[in-house]
Amino acid sequence: MMVDTHCHLLKEDYDNLDDIIMKMKDNIIIASGYDSKSNLEVIDLVNKYPNIYGTIGFHPSELDDFSSDSLNILEEQLKNPKIVGIGEIGLDYHYDDTDKDRQHDAFIKQILLANKLKCPIVVHSRDAALDTYEILEKYLDTKAIMHCYSYSLEMSKKFINLGMYLGIGGVLTFKNSSKIKEVVLNTDLSHLVLETDSPYLTPEPFRGMKNEPYNVYYVAKEIASIKGIDIEKVFDETFKNAKNIFNI
Ligand code: NI
Repeated sequence: MMVDTHCHLLKEDYDNLDDIIMKMKDNIIIASGYDSKSNLEVIDLVNKYPNIYGTIGFHPSELDDFSSDSLNILEEQLKNPKIVGIGEIGLDYHYDDTDKDRQHDAFIKQILLANKLKCPIVVHSRDAALDTYEILEKYLDTKAIMHCYSYSLEMSKKFINLGMYLGIGGVLTFKNSSKIKEVVLNTDLSHLVLETDSPYLTPEPFRGMKNEPYNVYYVAKEIASIKGIDIEKVFDETFKNAKNIFNI
């Protein structure tokens, strides 16, 4: 069985949502929110489809409507048994106008909520490896995934030492992705999970088209080829990891 541990399935991005979800009917999808509106869409999806679970939270670049109220709302929404974690949350320094203090504040508050509820977090981190690591090292006390892992092998060891898992997505299949290939080659399967980050980051051979959860198959295939192992082993181990993280 395959688990897409991170994707965004918003109505505005797909006119064939039912079809792409049906394609995964024997597999599991974990849909992720990133702000108030998308969190509500995730809740609708998990209530409608048996094979979809969800994570909800406030992405570092989507903090306009994040307030102290948001934490109470998240806590209430997390009572839904199919909402299985907080994410995506984290730090993103990609844009020049980044308000780092605000990002740190929202990230830490959401980690503390996850610690309290004993639910996992899904971390987004872009151009912010060291600050992300320092905050996690100081505050993380629950299970966690570094979603769409894209930093160095050396950093990956530090995140894994915190007990974290690495989310591996379509970038792995790109020709110029030697850094992440090196991470996968040198990291035991017991620390990896599969994801697509749909509708973005479509793997080869479909790069350039809209991504969808079924494409985790191509990520698994690439991991199997890099490690020289059977694809079934990749499915089994990453499924076990996802089950353990999200308690599904
Ligand atoms: Ni995402």
